[in-house]
Amino acid sequence: MIHVACVTLSAALPPAGVTIVTACNPEGEDIGRTANSFSSVSLDPPMVLWSLAKTSIGQHDFHRAQHFAVHVLGEVQETLSGLFAGKAADRFDGLSLTRGADGIPVINGCAARFECRTVHRYDGRDHVIFVGEVLTVERAPRRPLLFHAGRYGRLQAAD
Ligand SMILES: Cc1cc2nc3c(=O)[nH]c(=O)nc-3n(C[C@H](O)[C@H](O)[C@H](O)COP(=O)(O)O)c2cc1C
Repeated sequence: MIHVACVTLSAALPPAGVTIVTACNPEGEDIGRTANSFSSVSLDPPMVLWSLAKTSIGQHDFHRAQHFAVHVLGEVQETLSGLFAGKAADRFDGLSLTRGADGIPVINGCAARFECRTVHRYDGRDHVIFVGEVLTVERAPRRPLLFHAGRYGRLQAAD
């Protein structure tokens, strides 16, 4: 059996976009986490997925949410990524927000955003995989922030 260390795995993966996934728990509290596990699943119907570590203190709240929003961060939003990867209780303070389905917090000013209805929750060993049907997509002319081998990066034109 080949044992693949977590560090080796993440360093070998291709660059990923950086997103913030937000939702609202049944008590009406806003929740949000930085995630680069976001990916497309299906185009017709449009479906996406992301995964959250079972060790996350947000796990229970995301599990109970019926909707979530995925915000694709622009290349200048590294600080926002760090904020939602951290432990600050006031991470939504001062952000320009609107409200989506179920009152989920939708952050303005990102490169793209998807509002989704949770349709599946799969056991992914140390993560839970959330699959959502995409209800709305919005895009802005901003280049995405990237994450690769533990570091942030930016897109550079090949020519
Ligand atoms: C660039 C980046 C991408 C991340 N992607 C994920 C992810 O896809 N899934 C996940 O569970 N945590 C991911 N994290 C970690 C979470 O944002 C967060 O730090 C973690 O859930 C621990 O905090 P918590 O216990 O307060 O939830 C990522 C962090 C960074 C900086």
